[in-house]
Amino acid sequence: MLGNKTKYTVNTPENVSITPRNPSFDFSDVEKVWMKDPITSHFMNALSIFIPFSERTVSEVLRNNINNVNHPELKQQIKGMIKQEGRHAAMHRRSNEKIKQCYGGLTVIENIQKRTMKIIRTLSSSKFQMCIPASFEHFTSAVSREILRNQIQWTGKKNNTSIDFVLWHCLEELEHQAIGRDAYFALHKSTLRLYMSQLLWVPLSMFSIYGTQLYLLHKDRIIYRPKSWVPYLRFVIRSGRLFFKGGFDMCRTGYNPWTESDQRLYHQSLSSYQSRTFPLQKEHN
Ligand SMILES: [Fe+2]
Ligand SMILES: [Fe+2]
Repeated sequence: MLGNKTKYTVNTPENVSITPRNPSFDFSDVEKVWMKDPITSHFMNALSIFIPFSERTVSEVLRNNINNVNHPELKQQIKGMIKQEGRHAAMHRRSNEKIKQCYGGLTVIENIQKRTMKIIRTLSSSKFQMCIPASFEHFTSAVSREILRNQIQWTGKKNNTSIDFVLWHCLEELEHQAIGRDAYFALHKSTLRLYMSQLLWVPLSMFSIYGTQLYLLHKDRIIYRPKSWVPYLRFVIRSGRLFFKGGFDMCRTGYNPWTESDQRLYHQSLSSYQSRTFPLQKEHN
């Protein structure tokens, strides 16, 4: 059912503006262990490998459907989000080039992801494809909220270009938390389809990201050190909750992901970002 026949809400607060920002990051001097420890760094590296193609897929699906969205504010938000995702993906590709120089197997993993996503999209109806932005943005905002809220637990008080890059991406992913599902409900009513989508993407994302993290820990021989086992298990248990957190709530029609504490976190993070200056990316959209 198209947007003009469906009642829906735009949940992004008025004081959250989907502004395409344009910082550029130079990853040439970033150390191998750039987050708190190798386990956290490799989780973020694994995530980074999957982001460019996932963000491209989200943008493609939204572009294919945007003409059916009749709410001008939501349409503007979707356009802003597509622009932001393009810039995120460009920076992730740059940082991934450096990671892939050290771990050649990541290129194979990237190709498997591309093939798998293409197969899933070919087999999916356009309605089911519209669940992809909802599921993906829900997950990326859950990870972003966690990192912004518990920055020191993730970074270990380190300060480097890759961390600046992650904080910028997290800020903008938090901005997206309602847009994917608002876009879905603008066009479709079925909550069952969203639940089904979560049942597909949550295990697939966990398998992909933890599998890739494990590959990286194997290449560095870290997973073979007994002293790494407990921190690794703790990390998997703690981060594993992010894949499920709110995952079924977000499928409900009346759900609004933006809490007051999210809004406080967002404005703090925005002020912190605005207090810094970064070189700018060349325009590519
Ligand atoms: Fe993004
Ligand atoms: Fe996003």
